[in-house]
Amino acid sequence: MVTTETTSPPTLPQIIQGGMGIGVSNWRLANAVSRLGQLGVVSGTVIDTVLVRRLQDGDPGGHMRRALAHFPIPGIADELLRRYFLPEGRAPGAPYHLLPMYKQVVSSARQRVTVAAGFVETWLAREGHENDVGMNLLTKVQMPNLPTLYGAMLAGVATVIMGAGIPREIPGALDALASHRKATLRFDVEGLARDDAEWLTFDPAEIWPEGTLPATPLRRPHFYPVVSAVSLAATLARKSNGRVDGFVVEGPTAGGHNAPPRGAMQLDALGQPIYGERDAVDLVKLAELGLPFWVAGGVGTPDGLCAARAAGAAGIQVGTLFAFCDESGLAPDIKQETLRGVLSGTVEVRTDPRASPTGYPFKVVQLPGHEQDAAERERICDLGYLREAVKRDDGRMIYRCAAEPVNTYMQKGGTFCDTDGRRCLCNGLLADVGLAQERDGHVEPPLVTSGDDLASLAHFASPEGYTAGEVLEWLLHGTLVATA
Ligand SMILES: Cc1cc2nc3c(=O)[nH]c(=O)nc-3n(C[C@H](O)[C@H](O)[C@H](O)COP(=O)(O)O)c2cc1C
Repeated sequence: MVTTETTSPPTLPQIIQGGMGIGVSNWRLANAVSRLGQLGVVSGTVIDTVLVRRLQDGDPGGHMRRALAHFPIPGIADELLRRYFLPEGRAPGAPYHLLPMYKQVVSSARQRVTVAAGFVETWLAREGHENDVGMNLLTKVQMPNLPTLYGAMLAGVATVIMGAGIPREIPGALDALASHRKATLRFDVEGLARDDAEWLTFDPAEIWPEGTLPATPLRRPHFYPVVSAVSLAATLARKSNGRVDGFVVEGPTAGGHNAPPRGAMQLDALGQPIYGERDAVDLVKLAELGLPFWVAGGVGTPDGLCAARAAGAAGIQVGTLFAFCDESGLAPDIKQETLRGVLSGTVEVRTDPRASPTGYPFKVVQLPGHEQDAAERERICDLGYLREAVKRDDGRMIYRCAAEPVNTYMQKGGTFCDTDGRRCLCNGLLADVGLAQERDGHVEPPLVTSGDDLASLAHFASPEGYTAGEVLEWLLHGTLVATA
């Protein structure tokens, strides 16, 4: 367990390796980047399922078990291994054993898995060097966030980066968790009466055996929300319930989810959201807030770094270039297929306003072989991380996802229109990193995301691949080690 009472003054990296879920920015990638002196970031999104699936696949290399052996809360590592570790891996075609889906209140055993998973990913990213490591989480995937953060903090995470929502209450939660106190977030629930509020709570005291809760505080990580407007940055800086230490300012060309355009949504001929001048962030105004910031989205070039720094940024956050490098969690065949497509000019990225059940635009790489599989996929919701909570008139809380079977969604009060075009990000993104669920001979198809700038890999990547170190070398010094 990593403890420190005060937070050391930040040494600001020029490059933040973007947090990429699910499992794309894994411990291996973050470790490689941090080792080289920039900020490596693990994704904490759905990390509990990632951990139990790696264990069910036999934990090749023993990394999960090595990290679990350092988990400070007694009994939990053994419990996890007993329940999920299959030394020989799954039998061919056998489905993964699923964790119970998150709800407002879950069992302590369920929370323990999530805490352990946040710990394991961070611990491995920090192994063998002294440099800082960050964790990225999506504000919208609310329910597992507190236990994931606590696990990451037990492993000494230095920075927490959160977008896809307005994480105003995370600074206070980090303060509470650093002193092993109960942390609380206002739970986003549809259908609440005006004066009604629901809460998500996580209390470390409930997972440490009685009498063992540590007295020494944990390191309180720096907190960088991801913003796409100065007004949001200003609100977060002034009205959060604790310290905000900087910002990642992300443009609409960035991979993964994007903020919707300002004003009414207008689509181009390909059905993609149209962004305009109002969506550009005034970096001069952002700098006036007096906090460091990193520019993200289509700036992953040596010139992009220089321009960002000239505009007052500490540096840039880069995703796409790292997503397809050797150390990332993407499955090797997906990396190769995408790189080949990029080099031959046959792969495209589409900003899909409908794909994500969150309602946020989401970038989808159009991989020819997989689009058909995805279109034919039978709807099923068995992971549920993107489920929204709805309070019914009778006071009961229900959970629904616009990508679940249409009838089920409508029985829960959802509208047919809402389900149109929605895709199961949970299963699709897990398939991207080699953790696809199999059911009765059907394997979940991947759903690959990247930034608009995917094509720029072409002047960097060779078909054999490239390393995170080569990406850093190029961004920082303009040196191209790998050539096409
Ligand atoms: C494959 C992939 C997955 C991503 N997933 C997340 C995520 O889970 N959370 C997040 O805040 N940003 C996510 N991003 C955005 C990156 O963190 C980063 O801000 C962005 O990629 C920067 O733009 P670039 O891709 O043009 O370099 C993702 C990006 C990619 C390429």
